[in-house]
Amino acid sequence: MDILVIVGSLRAGSYNRQVAQAVTRLPAAQGHAFAFADIGALPLYNQDDDADQAPPVRALKAAIRKAGLVLFVTPEYNRSIPGVLKNALDHASRPYGDSAWAGKPAAVMGVAGGKIGTALAQQHLRNILAYLDMPTLNQPEAFVQWNDDLVTSEGTVGADSAAFLDGWLAKAIALAESRAGPGTA
Ligand code: FNR
Repeated sequence: MDILVIVGSLRAGSYNRQVAQAVTRLPAAQGHAFAFADIGALPLYNQDDDADQAPPVRALKAAIRKAGLVLFVTPEYNRSIPGVLKNALDHASRPYGDSAWAGKPAAVMGVAGGKIGTALAQQHLRNILAYLDMPTLNQPEAFVQWNDDLVTSEGTVGADSAAFLDGWLAKAIALAESRAGPGTA
């Protein structure tokens, strides 16, 4: 299955990006093709541009349409999702009637320094995904607390979190497979 990963942080050393990359090396990831969306290349959303969407917007929509599953891995900013992520969600939802998100299975994860960090961001994101008609993995919720052993020097998920995140990914893939229509790769 093609799996599109959307990271809600543009920071070079992003914990969320590091964990998202490590997740692609888990056992449940084997045999699947992962791609990371470049949401930092998107312009600020402007409805005037709907009739002629910019190349990075068209590339994002094509990547979503190609994917069987979208993984959102995002920090929480001020108790909600980062603006860059909302910008990407808005872009690919338009023009009206041509949303790339509709029906696309999704799963949500977030990494923060605190124990319940990203809980509110994830809840806000789930609201948006429901409106966009994306079947989203409900359980397990993935509130991941950063520590220096979370990602190993080899870029794999550390021992304490590997089994949990492997189970989360396996359930997300199972959800997507259960939603796949005839002919879906
Ligand atoms: C934060 N951070 C944060 N953390 C949190 O748990 N809840 C929050 O509401 C916020 N708010 C917030 C706002 C802004 C503007 C910034 C820059 C940061 C801290 C955040 O979790 C931390 O910076 C993470 O390291 C960001 O994720 P990446 O960039 O490491 O993936």
